[in-house]
Amino acid sequence: MQPVVLHNSTFYNGDCITGAAEHIADNSVDLIITDPPYGINGDRLHQHYNRNEEFVVEGYVEIPRADYADFSIRWIKEAERVLRPGGSIYIVSGYTNLIDLLNALRKTSLKEINHIIWKYNFGVFTRRKYVSSHYHILYYEKPGGRRTFNLESRYGLHEKTGDGRSLNNFDREDVWIINREYKPGQVKNKNELPTRLLIKMIQYSSNEGELVGDLFLGGFSTAAVAIGLNRRVVGFEISQQIFDTKIPEIKTLTPGYLVPSLQNPAISMQKNFRKTWTDNDLRQLHEGYNKLRAEGISKKHIIARLGEELGRGRWSIEKALKKNGFSH
Ligand SMILES: C[S@@+](CC[C@H](N)C(=O)[O-])C[C@H]1O[C@@H](n2cnc3c(N)ncnc32)[C@H](O)[C@@H]1O
Repeated sequence: MQPVVLHNSTFYNGDCITGAAEHIADNSVDLIITDPPYGINGDRLHQHYNRNEEFVVEGYVEIPRADYADFSIRWIKEAERVLRPGGSIYIVSGYTNLIDLLNALRKTSLKEINHIIWKYNFGVFTRRKYVSSHYHILYYEKPGGRRTFNLESRYGLHEKTGDGRSLNNFDREDVWIINREYKPGQVKNKNELPTRLLIKMIQYSSNEGELVGDLFLGGFSTAAVAIGLNRRVVGFEISQQIFDTKIPEIKTLTPGYLVPSLQNPAISMQKNFRKTWTDNDLRQLHEGYNKLRAEGISKKHIIARLGEELGRGRWSIEKALKKNGFSH
């Protein structure tokens, strides 16, 4: 499988299970966001209000229902292998075969962090039952390292709504109301994920320069957003038709193109900003440093952790470590 390399990202036209086994090293991916085929032949889940099916790209490869459980175990085990310890994985799924994904996840070391409900607009019209208008997002981590969760990447802890509620807390609730995108006249994949949804997962769970994986690229929306936020991507799409339609679109992107559209969070002041270090603070610093070092955690991560615990910035922690005889 020869990859296409664009914007520091690598795209393979082929099966993700054998492809990942051959091309992706253990523990090398920081974050996976993926949306596997749903295993529902002739499904209507992707249809929604006012959509002209003529513009849905042909070539989408489905998994027969009978193979879905085994298929889920095989790709999720590959995802587990390639994720770095502490790496996060978000799996988007409808309800029908959710059980197979949950069972597959239970056969791995991956640990559940949240079960997120993504509520979108305009479910498929029904007459004799309720209208389905949500997906499931299974947010898991690979244990063994510190998980990236950029708490104030979108809203500062002290930002409030007009009626005094915490915006940061609201943004981190596990029901996300994000509309699907209506792009009249544009060719798109079934179930293309909205940019806003992808931005949210990528901002909270990765940093610029890190590697984001998508085993089922489809409309390449995860890839496009990750590149737009200055992340690198590795991904697979089995359908040649889809792959060949989407690669030219990815080529036209400028890395970081989404960054100017992000709002700047009003980051809260650290609670001990500029305060003199007390003996108690120094003891906490000393003990925390030794404990985390003994756990094999990198200095960079120790500094971030101690900064959070002690309510101080990175420079302050570094300076105190140096002054108190730590090798940093
Ligand atoms: C639900 S779609 C992904 C949609 C994508 N997240 C988006 O926003 O456009 C699933 C994709 O997986 C592809 N696929 C199916 N089996 C695959 C496999 N074994 N390896 C890689 N891709 C596969 C399908 O052709 C389809 O395009």
